[in-house]
Amino acid sequence: MKIVLASDHGGFELKEAIKDHLIKKGYSIEDIGVYSTESVDYPEYGKKAALMVANKEVDRGIIVCGTGIGISIAANKVKGIRCALCTNEYMAKMSRLHNNANVLALGGRVIGTGLALDIVDVWLSTEFEGGRHENRINKIMEIEK
Ligand code: RB5
Repeated sequence: MKIVLASDHGGFELKEAIKDHLIKKGYSIEDIGVYSTESVDYPEYGKKAALMVANKEVDRGIIVCGTGIGISIAANKVKGIRCALCTNEYMAKMSRLHNNANVLALGGRVIGTGLALDIVDVWLSTEFEGGRHENRINKIMEIEK
């Protein structure tokens, strides 16, 4: 599975920890920045990562800002993106089972690294349930038209 990682300065340290974690697990990672804690604008990074997922250059995206809020809002503006901001493993699991989330957003200033890595692991290993949820996803995609 190929995953794009992106963050702003507020999510930089957590993004780096996620990158190390996923590389050790054998995932193919595309890190599109940032590469330091220098201040940047999160919409640029959320949009770029989301476009890579929407264009099928990668399978999934994980994006991080200070709260996870701004970068998730930006990513969700891109057609075809279902970005879920998760603060616990239950949300991560349900965002895959019911919402077929293709981008995960995390808040680097909200949760600790250990919890974040657990969320990432659950999110990457849970498959979409389909069934009645397929119809609901289709209704979301209809809103985009
Ligand atoms: C940057 O200071 C901060 O606003 C950003 O990381 C994020 O939390 C926005 O939602």
